[in-house]
Amino acid sequence: MIQDPPVALEPLYELDDDAIEQRIHNAKERLGSRCVILGHHYQREEVYRFADLTGDSLKLSRLATERKEAEYIVFCGVHFMAEVADMLSARNQTAILPDMAAGCSMADMADLPSVESAWEQLGKVIDVETRVTPITYVNSTASLKAFCGEHGGIVCTSSNAKKVMEWAFEQREKTLFFPDQHLGRNTGHSLGVPLDEMVIWKPTEPMGGLTEEQINKAKVILWDGFCSVHQIFTPEDVDLFRERKPGIQISVHPESRLEVCIKADHMGSTEQIQSVVRDSPPGSKWAIGTEFNLVNRLKHEMPEKEIHFLSTTVCMCSTMFRIDPQHLLWTLENLLEGHVVNAITVPPRETELAKTALERMLAIVV
Ligand code: 13P
Ligand code: SF4
Repeated sequence: MIQDPPVALEPLYELDDDAIEQRIHNAKERLGSRCVILGHHYQREEVYRFADLTGDSLKLSRLATERKEAEYIVFCGVHFMAEVADMLSARNQTAILPDMAAGCSMADMADLPSVESAWEQLGKVIDVETRVTPITYVNSTASLKAFCGEHGGIVCTSSNAKKVMEWAFEQREKTLFFPDQHLGRNTGHSLGVPLDEMVIWKPTEPMGGLTEEQINKAKVILWDGFCSVHQIFTPEDVDLFRERKPGIQISVHPESRLEVCIKADHMGSTEQIQSVVRDSPPGSKWAIGTEFNLVNRLKHEMPEKEIHFLSTTVCMCSTMFRIDPQHLLWTLENLLEGHVVNAITVPPRETELAKTALERMLAIVV
């Protein structure tokens, strides 16, 4: 029988913003170093301000291993991030996701049975175990990271994808990259892989919709996945900003389409976007192609610069937005009552295999 937590969630929605803020402060203070709050850059401001440590996926993965004194790692981000925190943290630490509905729609586009089926089908054309390195973007389930660990593969994030793909090519001549086709294509392109040697694997079609000839020729086999938030940016958005704001610089996340990324001045992870804009001189103009909360935060932080969102349509990550101050408060106050809500626990065998792939990635210095 599932036990009701001592602190209920629903009544917290009746509190006003100031009361919630005060109670989060109090709970954080009382928990002290027993609890560390990690915050991804896409978190809404009302939550982000309570993060002890912030970063992109790679930085947060590393940070999850560093606060050894914290019994609880409260992850204000999405499900796969909390899974990574669970796998990389010590046994006595518990990773917590304040709202279990905070997933990642891109991560959901590849599941273990479909990837295993792709591996098996590809295996009918080429010897996958000696010729293909599987790479999973960190935005994926722990089971896919475990698959990579088991098959000589590796994990990558948006900040180290180029180095990781180089590593993959040093091992085997081809790579199967999932779930984000755009990060895979942008990375292959940056390494000089011709576009006709990067093919799309459609998981719902026999042999991924590819011919034997296409598979034999391909260097990068891209899973047919994408991020709906980053899909909205178009090359026309870049052209429009350049026309209307002479001298503007464009920075985009590599989950955006290749046509957008090749027109941009800079491409990088959320942390890298933040750094390049922060390091620019006062008066700089930027149009940024990534999630709205990060762009908005940079805009408020640097009024001496002109910062725009690279689209006329505002698009937020609805799953990141699931983490609201009420869920954070609910999580912390239950911890104070000795009750852990929403612990993320990856099974031991999966953890062991996934850690192999994660550790291969962490060993690569960017
Ligand atoms: P970063 O690793 O760049 O923070 O990206 C995570 C993400 O989900 C982007 O959509
Ligand atoms: Fe996933 Fe896209 Fe949201 Fe990032 S922005 S967490 S890739 S849905």
